[in-house]
Amino acid sequence: MKKEKTIKSSDNTVDVYQILPEKGKGVIIFDNKGKKYIDMFAGIAVNLFGYNDKAINNAIFEQIKKYIHLSRLFYNKKQEELSFLLKKNSFAKGVYFVNSGAEANEVAIKFARKWGKIKKSGANKIITFYNSFHGRTITTLTATGQEKFHNILNPKAPGFIYAEFNNIEDVKNKIDNDTVAVMLELVQAEGGVNIADENFIKELDKLCDQYNILLIIDEVQTGLGRTGKIFCYENYKLKPDIITLGKGLGGGLPLSAVLVADKIYKIIEKNDHGTTMGGNPVACAAGCVIIKKLMKRSFLKEVESKGNYLMQSLKNIDSEKIKEVRGKGLLIGMQIKGDAKKIVSDALKEGLILNACKPDVIRFVPPLIISKKEIDTVIKILRRII
Ligand SMILES: Cc1ncc(COP(=O)(O)O)c(C=O)c1O
Repeated sequence: MKKEKTIKSSDNTVDVYQILPEKGKGVIIFDNKGKKYIDMFAGIAVNLFGYNDKAINNAIFEQIKKYIHLSRLFYNKKQEELSFLLKKNSFAKGVYFVNSGAEANEVAIKFARKWGKIKKSGANKIITFYNSFHGRTITTLTATGQEKFHNILNPKAPGFIYAEFNNIEDVKNKIDNDTVAVMLELVQAEGGVNIADENFIKELDKLCDQYNILLIIDEVQTGLGRTGKIFCYENYKLKPDIITLGKGLGGGLPLSAVLVADKIYKIIEKNDHGTTMGGNPVACAAGCVIIKKLMKRSFLKEVESKGNYLMQSLKNIDSEKIKEVRGKGLLIGMQIKGDAKKIVSDALKEGLILNACKPDVIRFVPPLIISKKEIDTVIKILRRII
């Protein structure tokens, strides 16, 4: 039999999926031969409303017809509207736009350190967690508590200390007078879908208050409806000082944001922030549609319900190969015995796009519009291949 040619990217840092994608509709991707794939990865948790959403597409087209870019040195109606919507639905007093999750985290770190300089005698150390993921710039890679990412960093960015996730004693032991912030994901997504315990977060919040330490929540993956709330911190009844957003904020266009509480907003001055492309009006136009869609309570209830349905259906597969299923909303991890990559490649042949975020963890982050019927199809395929 003739061996199929391997599809390769010219970017030699990645192995691409062995399909040639042509177009998408809803949660389905079609390849160049018209074969359908149910997408449980959504462009790395970006495509919240799937492919070819009419309202998002229209908002983009309408803005393109006016102008694509002018820079933040001009009043930007779409940016203002998106900023208003984000503030209206959160604790935030200020919103600052950039282009990627990593960049948003960089800004969050910078603002926290400015606050430390002014309000806490120059405190600048930030506690992050083992198994976290905060991006791929030098600083955010250093903030990322996974050694495998640190090998090529020489030197690492200074000022980061790692603590054990869900271990409040370890955090306590690592706090000193120089600590300015604790930064974490409430569900460590890239790190294997590890969920923050409610009690741990409650204690962490108290600790931050007690020691006058800022709480930065990286909501790049957990934000924007993914866990059944607009922001994941709402699940924990928290009031963070800073959160970062990215991924689906621009409807698939590069856009990210840093949301800050009043006490941070007050110390930010002219020139503390700058970006050429950040807050691009086309991406912000899409962002406005996204937030308005997420503001519908019934939609978020559906996300929660479909998340529970997917989680239960995965548990019901009842195979020896499945060690644990865990998650929040439509961010779910399935820990398996064996090679997750093999399951991903077998699934692809069966018309299912999956992702292995760890060698033994499959991560499910479908578009939030996935239906229970589509979830049933996913489970059917999984039953066949596991
Ligand atoms: C929690 C979290 N923070 C930051 C990032 C980095 O985002 P970006 O790839 O847009 O820089 C990611 C990306 O996966 C993420 O999951």
